[in-house]
Amino acid sequence: MEKKKEISMAVIRRLPKYQRYLYELMRHDIDRISSKELSEKIGFTASQIRQDLNNFGDFGQQGYGYNVKDLLGKINSILGLDHEYNIVIIGAGNIGQAVANYTKFDRLGFKLSAIFDVNPKLVGIKIRDVKIKDIDELDDYLKNNKVDLGVICVPKSNAQSVCDILVANGVEGIWNFAPIDLETGGKVIIENVHLSESLLTLTYLLNCQKNNTD
Ligand code: NAI
Repeated sequence: MEKKKEISMAVIRRLPKYQRYLYELMRHDIDRISSKELSEKIGFTASQIRQDLNNFGDFGQQGYGYNVKDLLGKINSILGLDHEYNIVIIGAGNIGQAVANYTKFDRLGFKLSAIFDVNPKLVGIKIRDVKIKDIDELDDYLKNNKVDLGVICVPKSNAQSVCDILVANGVEGIWNFAPIDLETGGKVIIENVHLSESLLTLTYLLNCQKNNTD
């Protein structure tokens, strides 16, 4: 069997940016673009773009450039966006509600099927037609419904126990907003969104810039 080529995380992390720009081009009815033009828009060099895309196949043609719709379709498929994902959110506070209310996730194919919280004042309330359920129902819900992704938006003290329930019930991916490194025994894929780490990168860069201009 042919061995699958290992793609670097740096390339994978650039793909959503390609996707965003290609959608933008589609919205402006642009159906083809050269790697030079794409490079000017996106801010990566033309050679970087060619190298990135060559990881996935032979895109673009000499003298023609890229067909925007085809390339977008291919990138969406590489990103796994050619099918839908059933998601549940655990923790319906500030972050949980913000994620639940963001309709673009829905358009990308992430179908919010349930939200869970421990707070009786929140249980029963609807966010975009999805009722918040009691956390005690999570285990049963996962046993009776196919859920692909869990979004953890609870305080860090409770994040591991929520993660354990998701993992025990076969959820394959976790989008974790709690500031904690979750243990899963390597069974699921975790993508952390640590907002404060991103903020600290900003303060570091700001201070570097200041020190260089002083
Ligand atoms: P929040 O306090 O507004 O909401 C947390 C929700 O989780 C509450 O509704 C609470 O009842 C629920 N909850 C607690 N234990 C639970 C459990 N075992 N099962 C189900 N629900 C449970 O908190 P917020 O602001 O939404 O933050 C969520 C997570 O994201 C926290 O871990 C926080 O540290 C992290 N975070 C939040 C940021 C922010 O800007 N709000 C920034 C960075 C990280």
